[in-house]
Amino acid sequence: MVRRKNEFVRPFLKWAGGKGQILPQLKMYLPQISNTYFEPFIGAGALFLNLQNKKCVIGDTNEELLNCYQVLRDNVEELIQALEIHKQKNTEEYFYQIRLMDRDNGFKFMSDVERAARIIFLNKTCFNGLFRVNAQGQFNVPYGRYTNPNICDSVVLRAVASYLVGNDIQIIHGDFETTLSQATKNDFIYFDPPYDPVSSTASFTGYDVNGFGKNEQLRLKQYFDELHRRECKVMLSNAATDFIRNLYQDYNQVIISANRAINSKADRRGAVDEILVTNYPYPQK
Ligand SMILES: C[S@@+](CC[C@H](N)C(=O)[O-])C[C@H]1O[C@@H](n2cnc3c(N)ncnc32)[C@H](O)[C@@H]1O
Repeated sequence: MVRRKNEFVRPFLKWAGGKGQILPQLKMYLPQISNTYFEPFIGAGALFLNLQNKKCVIGDTNEELLNCYQVLRDNVEELIQALEIHKQKNTEEYFYQIRLMDRDNGFKFMSDVERAARIIFLNKTCFNGLFRVNAQGQFNVPYGRYTNPNICDSVVLRAVASYLVGNDIQIIHGDFETTLSQATKNDFIYFDPPYDPVSSTASFTGYDVNGFGKNEQLRLKQYFDELHRRECKVMLSNAATDFIRNLYQDYNQVIISANRAINSKADRRGAVDEILVTNYPYPQK
């Protein structure tokens, strides 16, 4: 029997490196997924939410992001109420008031629901809709001046919540190695790490306080090899730089184009080559 997917289960945040635009290409290179689906750099989770597998383990180091997934699973109605309040109050002055909260000692006493509502509100109303923090971990994107931002998309929020509740989905706040510690033979892993920068000025490393430099890309490659030894099926996307192409030269590589909408320099926007690496032969689709 073919399981019907819910089309409203889709990203509830806009995220740098979000995979929404290249989903059709990504799906062409997926293997048959019969065991657990792992995505340890989950971000807004475009592929995860599109596939709607029954057994998944997702993770990310961004604590505020992970808290959003946990609150959606545990408390979606309270989250919707909190977002409705933000929606009614949305002005530039109110935005900066809410943005300032992580600079205040009171932040650690805010409830999980309040923190999730804050991130979703800021994400929907800030310039370019992204999550960026400074070296102290404080949200630092300016106000976006949208005429009608969709601050409380209750249909999508409830659909994602019921998918998270109705299936076996583990949500882990931590490094990719922690999320993958249980991965075994025939599990599928999709790696979508922060990109290796195409040029030194084009890097976007503001996802959280820990950047992701060359040493981290090397650590990830060692873990890719480790998963290969465990006989997992692994797919990775990254920028198609010489460094990444050489690093993964022993695996299958294909170049696909991605439109990177989020970039600090307007003149660098546009199609940037993206590489897909797999440790299994490409399926014939
Ligand atoms: C390119 S984004 C993922 C985008 C996602 N696939 C989507 O469709 O929205 C990379 C993510 O990796 C996370 N990250 C950075 N370093 C990490 C680490 N060491 N372990 C796990 N996640 C990390 C960032 O917080 C960010 O959310």
